[in-house]
Amino acid sequence: MDPEVLLSLLPEGLESWEVLAKRTGLGLTELRKALLVLQGQGFPVVIKEEGAGLVLGTPAPQILIPLLRGKYGRAYRYFGMVTSTQDLLRAWKDAPIGAMVLAESQSQGRGRRGRVWESPQGNLYFSVLLENTGDQLLSFRAGLALAEATQVGLLKWPNDLLAPDGRKLGGVLVETENERAFLGVGLNVRVAPIPNSAALEEFRQVHRAQLLADFLWSLEKWLEKENETVLAVWSKRNITLGRKVAVWTEKETIVGVAISLGSKGELLIRTKKGMRAVLAGDVSLLRMAHDVKDAEVCEGEAERGSSRHSQSKGPGPLRKQG
Ligand code: BTN
Repeated sequence: MDPEVLLSLLPEGLESWEVLAKRTGLGLTELRKALLVLQGQGFPVVIKEEGAGLVLGTPAPQILIPLLRGKYGRAYRYFGMVTSTQDLLRAWKDAPIGAMVLAESQSQGRGRRGRVWESPQGNLYFSVLLENTGDQLLSFRAGLALAEATQVGLLKWPNDLLAPDGRKLGGVLVETENERAFLGVGLNVRVAPIPNSAALEEFRQVHRAQLLADFLWSLEKWLEKENETVLAVWSKRNITLGRKVAVWTEKETIVGVAISLGSKGELLIRTKKGMRAVLAGDVSLLRMAHDVKDAEVCEGEAERGSSRHSQSKGPGPLRKQG
């Protein structure tokens, strides 16, 4: 039996061997072997004495699709292990707008600014196809949807999702190709892959498929909102504005107080030398006097922002690893 067909016949939670054998038309030995193959491909298959099935909350199509409320995610490709869901979505040439690729793990997950996104099993890694309208607030809309769906997430400029204690929970990556935009989302649900990253389940119980359906619905709503509304709500919910920050851009490090967002989502910073606007960079929140000193010493050094991983809470003085 084609593993994809077998996967589609598995329920969430355990089903008895007898029922599964009847449903699949396979003998017990053959069935067990096929389930092991699926497990080996990276799917969260549970195999027990009393039966088999999928781990609760597994976002397999038969579990996710009934939970969807809008149009996003209905065209759906679900994988065990891939290189990067961004690449698979890119390669899906006739994918309709709203199509989604999700994988249980990625071998070459990537984050913003060319960094690595560690992608072990247990979390959510997915990419959604959107129209490339040149919307500069796209990642802010996605960030708001992520904060709304996770319920506990805090937003840090430009689109990091942080846990209540400031560790990084998730992130958003937007890539474009002609009229297509690929919105990639990585969210640590069960596993915090590197030190200083967090997993959502440390804070609340999560049904991954429900969380994903909530995100997609929220995203659809945020994509319809006026720019002014996006900027206003983001400005209310974020933890960057009003704080002392060090912003690590490609060329330099800017230290000052984050004042507000510009109309394109750029961060407006009041520095000793006047106002600066930053379109792309990594923010470090400075809390203590020695953080400020540390950042000032580093002013001009872009290396501080060039960590290999995109999953810890950010570069600079408050960062312990990454
Ligand atoms: C960030 O750097 O904060 C953004 C991380 C985005 C990671 C996601 S995981 C799914 C999709 N596939 C990738 O290779 N990257 C994005």
